Amino acid sequence: MEKKNIDWSNLGFGYIQTDFRFVSNYVNGAWDEGVLTEDANVVINECAGVLQYAQTVFEGMKAYTTADGRIVTFRPDLNGERMEQSARRLEMPVFPKEKFVEAVLKTIKANEAYVPPYGSGATLYVRPYMFGSNPVIGVKPADEYQFRVFTTPVGPYFKGGVKPLTIRVSDFDRAAPRGTGHIKAGLNYAMSLHAIVDAHKQGYDENMYLDAGTRTKVEETGGANFLFVTKEGKVVTPKSGSILPSITRRSLVQVAKEYLGLEAEEREIYLEELADFAECGLCGTAAVISPVGKIVDHGKEICFPSGMTEMGPVTKKLYDTLTGIQMGTIKAPEGWIAEVK
Ligand code: PLP
Ligand code: COI
Repeated sequence: MEKKNIDWSNLGFGYIQTDFRFVSNYVNGAWDEGVLTEDANVVINECAGVLQYAQTVFEGMKAYTTADGRIVTFRPDLNGERMEQSARRLEMPVFPKEKFVEAVLKTIKANEAYVPPYGSGATLYVRPYMFGSNPVIGVKPADEYQFRVFTTPVGPYFKGGVKPLTIRVSDFDRAAPRGTGHIKAGLNYAMSLHAIVDAHKQGYDENMYLDAGTRTKVEETGGANFLFVTKEGKVVTPKSGSILPSITRRSLVQVAKEYLGLEAEEREIYLEELADFAECGLCGTAAVISPVGKIVDHGKEICFPSGMTEMGPVTKKLYDTLTGIQMGTIKAPEGWIAEVK
C-alpha cells in the first residue's frame, strides 16, 4: 500500500478529506449494516433534529503506525462505551460499542494510505459521530439517525507542539451541575466557541473552566482534562461529574501507578491550590499531553516551576510512556491496543 504524498511532519490539526467514510442509518427502530462510501457530503432535510436542536454526539480517537509497521488504535472500546452513554443522555439510539469498534477499524483500514508513518509526529484522527436526521419541529428527539466515521491526518493540536501553554481562568461556564458536561455532545463545544475566540484574542491558548455551581474548583478546558503534579511528584487529576471522562487521563493515571511507580489521585481540585503544584498539563486524544506553563486568574499569574520552555519532568515521563505504549515501543496493558488488519 502506497502512502499519500503528504508533508506529514508539517501537518497542523485540520481537516483533510480522505478517501472513505463509514455510514449507517437508523430507520424504523433499527440500524442498518452500514457501508463505506467515498461521498464526504451529508444531505439532510432542512428541519433535521441536529440542525434545529443540536441532537448530535461524537468521539475522537487516533490511529498510529507502530515502530514495527502495524497500524493500531488506542482503547477504542472505551470510546464506544462513552458514545453509548452520550447517546443515552440525548435520547438517541445506542450504536452498539462492538459495532462501533468494527466500523472504526474498517474506516481506518480503508484509509490506510493516510495513516502517517512512524516517527513523523502525525497521526490519523478518527471522528465517529451520530446525529438526528429526520425533520423535527416540536422539541423532541428525532426518529431517524445517521452514524458516521471519517478520518483526517493531523499534527499537534496546539501550534508550537510541546511549548508550554498559557491558560486563563474563564468567566464563562462550560457545564452545569447535572447538565451534559460528562458526555461528548456538540452542544458543549458550541457554547465554548465564544470563550475560546475571546481567549485567543486576549493572547491565551485555552480556557480553564471552573465548576459552575461554586466557581471554586477546576473542571477542564474546551477540549482536554487537566493533570497536575505535586511538588512531591504525585499525579492529581480533577474529579467532577461535569467533565468529560477522558480516556487519556484514565490511562495516564494507570501509567503513573503501574509503569512509573507514582502515586496518582483523582480528587476535587480547588483553584486556590494551583500555586502549590509543580507541573500542569492538558490531556486528551488531540492534546496527548500538552504542558501548561502559566495559568492567569484575572491578572494574577500562577507560574508553574516547570517553566515556559519545556515539559515538566514528570509530565515528560508520562508523555513518553503513553506515546511509547501507543506507538508499540513499550508493552501495553492487556486490551489497550487494537490492531487494524
Ligand atoms: N475533555 C474534553 C472537553 C474533550 O473534548 C476531550 C477530547 O476528547 C477530552 C477531555 C479528552 O478525552 P479523551 O482523552 O478521551 O480524548
Ligand atoms: C479529542 O481530543 O479527540 C477531542 O475531541 C477534542 C477536540 C477539541 C478536538
